[in-house]
Amino acid sequence: MITLAAASQKGGVAKTTTNLAIGAKLAQDGARVLYIDLDPQMNLSTTLKAQTAGVASSLDVLTGDAAIADAAQHIDGYAVVPASRLNGKADDLMPSVGKDYRLRKALETVADQYDYAILDTPPALGTLTVNALTAADWVVIPAQADAYSLDGVTDLAATIQAIREYTNPNLNIGGILLTRYNPRTSISKIIHEDAEAMAQELGTKVFRAWIPEATVVKESQAVKQSLFDYAPTSKAAYHYRFFIEELMEDVDAVAGGKAKEVGSNG
Ligand SMILES: Nc1ncnc2c1ncn2[C@@H]1O[C@H](COP(=O)(O)OP(=O)(O)O)[C@@H](O)[C@H]1O
Ligand SMILES: [Mg+2]
Repeated sequence: MITLAAASQKGGVAKTTTNLAIGAKLAQDGARVLYIDLDPQMNLSTTLKAQTAGVASSLDVLTGDAAIADAAQHIDGYAVVPASRLNGKADDLMPSVGKDYRLRKALETVADQYDYAILDTPPALGTLTVNALTAADWVVIPAQADAYSLDGVTDLAATIQAIREYTNPNLNIGGILLTRYNPRTSISKIIHEDAEAMAQELGTKVFRAWIPEATVVKESQAVKQSLFDYAPTSKAAYHYRFFIEELMEDVDAVAGGKAKEVGSNG
């Protein structure tokens, strides 16, 4: 199992949208996908039509009250562990011993049941994001292409560096993904240059693929369909496909081609 997370402490930069797209494309290609929603806002859970009331949640997994296998809901070809509103209190509710490693440990118990785990994090650098980055093999940093969007990347970089030093030396940074991008505006060019500089500092890259601002993205989420089912021929779907192919090239290379077999085996 390969674990991926689009993460950032900024809200509204398309973390959830990007995680949804990655899982949808991988599942479409025949992979077994497990989503874990850690965000108390539960956007990923609701978009994937998961039950969130009276069910085991990712918080129960983190506190040790539920196993992932029992918390996972199987919907439309995905497995989803939903978040709970109480995820916001995770820091207080989790036992302090081994706190950062709780999700990693839990994921190990289902490692042979899924090809990919995709982790959706809240817009904060607290326990939930630390758990996600400690469990992840790959992190993607989405950045909304506006004037302030890159502000947060430096703080995230510090967190990633600390994660590599203390809890997960094998964390790979896939790169910075420019989202909600409009190549026609003059600010876009400046943002692109800033992102390149930041990527260099982080020892990573800006993905060649970028994601355009597009209403179909919002619409697909409103009707709770994947972007690729809702608008398969849209520009946004095309750009997201291109991004995921670019990401998976690196993922496959590091995994020694293991991930590639998944698609062809169905
Ligand atoms: N490329 C895009 N074009 C238009 N709207 C987008 C795009 N990407 C995301 N959005 C919208 O922006 C909002 C924030 O995106 P979301 O993925 O929820 O961000 P985050 O998880 O980082 O908070 C959502 O309403 C989403 O539908
Ligand atoms: Mg989100």
